[in-house]
Amino acid sequence: MHDGELILGQVLRFAGDPFVQGADAARFERRGGVLVAHGRIVAVGAAEDLRRAHPQARITDMGDALLSAGLIDAHAHYPQTGIIASWGKRLIDWLNSYTFPEEMRFGDPDHAATVAARYLDLLLAHGTTTVASYCTTHPVSAEALFAAARDRDMRIVAGKTCMDRNAPAGLCDTAQRAHDESAALIARWHGQGRAVYAITPRFSPTSTPEQLEALGALWSAHPTCLMQTHLSEQLDELEWVHDLFPEARDYLDTYERAGLLGPGAVFGHAIHLTGRERGRLRDSGAALVHCPTSNTFIGSGLFDMQGLIAEGQRIGLATDTGGGSSFSMLRTMAAAYEVAQLRGFAIHPAQLWWLASVGSARALRLEDRIGNLAPGLEADILALDLASTPAIAQRAARAGDLWEALFPTIMMGDDRAVAGVWVNGVRRVGASG
Ligand code: GUN
Ligand code: ZN
Repeated sequence: MHDGELILGQVLRFAGDPFVQGADAARFERRGGVLVAHGRIVAVGAAEDLRRAHPQARITDMGDALLSAGLIDAHAHYPQTGIIASWGKRLIDWLNSYTFPEEMRFGDPDHAATVAARYLDLLLAHGTTTVASYCTTHPVSAEALFAAARDRDMRIVAGKTCMDRNAPAGLCDTAQRAHDESAALIARWHGQGRAVYAITPRFSPTSTPEQLEALGALWSAHPTCLMQTHLSEQLDELEWVHDLFPEARDYLDTYERAGLLGPGAVFGHAIHLTGRERGRLRDSGAALVHCPTSNTFIGSGLFDMQGLIAEGQRIGLATDTGGGSSFSMLRTMAAAYEVAQLRGFAIHPAQLWWLASVGSARALRLEDRIGNLAPGLEADILALDLASTPAIAQRAARAGDLWEALFPTIMMGDDRAVAGVWVNGVRRVGASG
């Protein structure tokens, strides 16, 4: 007998990979429930069965809301919260004009704490319960995000960004400082509560080979950390990398030769890849993170979802705020759908939902903790209103099955669709009880 909370609604979870098994990989319970106790999911099943088996549980009836695992944003920049939707630039100009000046402000711990709190509250309001975020080069920017996540009991992946060239002096560290400051943050935060440290060289153009090597050595000393960076986002960037690293075989090789490729490496964007890079990414167990609103907003290119899935790549989904134009993983799924359509591939709603939950969890090597509804997983849960606006409601009313009912919310939904969010078993969004 458990004295936990029994949340009732329409339950969506995954028993397999919908890119392999199609929509049959999903399990759907029209009148279902999720039993939560002590921060964990205890049971998932039919509402009546769970009520009968757990008569002591406190009931939270979410009606027709869809219950799912909280969504996971596998690549974002919390310091760019304030410059989201900045007009008119492509990657390198966008970094210099908007991003770096804003990131300079994160040496101030008060500013960092204010933005970190605002950012995580925005994520929760949008149904995102875990993010893998870059910070700035200032260690206090990482302290602020880890502390804000701890205050909300959120699972978080983050790291101090490392840059020792091609950025303003106020944002540059050195190879040694990047190593030592990252090591100190690992000692303070990695594995503490729900925090995971990601060693975070920004991207090859802003790191010397010496800095990349120092971070490669740090990662081999702390192999349970993740390593996150950017790869092959925009064509101008590829040319720049080629000029800066004439000896490298390709962009990925700038990381590979420094010891920054392997299981737990998480590469954002990965659009303009060579055959060699694709083979090495797959064989090494690295993950690719698709950032579709960013790739259209900054004009980077069209991610090859169909081809990369077919060759067995590990793929997650992400907003990439503030290069991305939304905090919402619903909007991000919609953009992933649209980008794939432009390449002649229609991603099924089951696949979109899987990418934003299980897929992102797998990319971050957290699939045994989050990203799905199953006994033993951490109780990060989203309740989604599938009729949150008149436009969505009138379309969903004609739906013949779950996927037709869900797809209008994927395409047109926003934070108004988020009826409830539980983080580690505690309700954080929506009226309690
Ligand atoms: N490449 C290096 N830094 C960044 C960043 O902050 N955003 C995006 N979209 N790409 C990058
Ligand atoms: Zn990014």
